[in-house]
Amino acid sequence: MLHMPKNIVILTGAGISAESGLDTFRDQGGLWANHSVDEVATPEAFVKNPKKVQKFYNQRRQELRNVEPNNAHRALATLEERWDGDFTLITQNVDDLHERAGSKNLLHMHGELLKVRCTHSHEIISWQEDLDAKTPSPFHPEGILRPHIVWFGELPLYMDVIFRKLDEADIFVAIGTSGQVYPAGGFVQHVYMKGNCDRIEINLDQSDLSYLFNEHYTGKATEEVPKWVDALLQAK
Ligand code: APR
Repeated sequence: MLHMPKNIVILTGAGISAESGLDTFRDQGGLWANHSVDEVATPEAFVKNPKKVQKFYNQRRQELRNVEPNNAHRALATLEERWDGDFTLITQNVDDLHERAGSKNLLHMHGELLKVRCTHSHEIISWQEDLDAKTPSPFHPEGILRPHIVWFGELPLYMDVIFRKLDEADIFVAIGTSGQVYPAGGFVQHVYMKGNCDRIEINLDQSDLSYLFNEHYTGKATEEVPKWVDALLQAK
């Protein structure tokens, strides 16, 4: 029987960047323990108190200068390089650690800290510096620059291509995500319902959606992801 390359779809969450030193959202002492979503991560918050919202993202953007990708990010870049089937990496993370580890085919469904967007033209540019409450946009006299981040209540990015990839997936892997935010939390249900798809969860603990996965690697991402990638490439 000819070796039929399999289509693989991977979804990562904040847990894959935890060991690089970036806070997750819902773990003990995580970002949402120290900040209110309604004050820093909604369009209404940006209208009400742009300075506070920009400060929250300025701090997280600057943090990226002090962290490095870890072995879990690197293992996924290796898998992408050596995988002979279709490979899609969807991340809920807004850090640039997957890119810096060498990942290429990457979909940032919640946006990116190192990009900003004109509020008037919606044009997007790379950006490393801080933003003020009303940093003028270079694209339109009436626009200002906002973080290129999908806030609560806004539509995540790349949803059409994501669901096309999920429909064709033979292997779906969720790494370091609590599965508490939708639509990402619904991806495993989608592939479960379509059938003919292996569902693997790699996480420090159980998640709300663990029951929907047929394989679990429980432990730190820097240990479990390289282990899983090695096993997958051996089995090829
Ligand atoms: N290795 C593996 N998994 C880990 C590790 C680790 N070292 N540390 C934490 N985890 C797991 C936790 O067990 C948890 O399941 O990572 C997950 C982190 O969950 P959240 O903090 O909820 O992060 P995430 O799932 O990415 O949140 C999704 O919510 O607030 C929004 O936009 C934000 O993209 C984010 C979305």
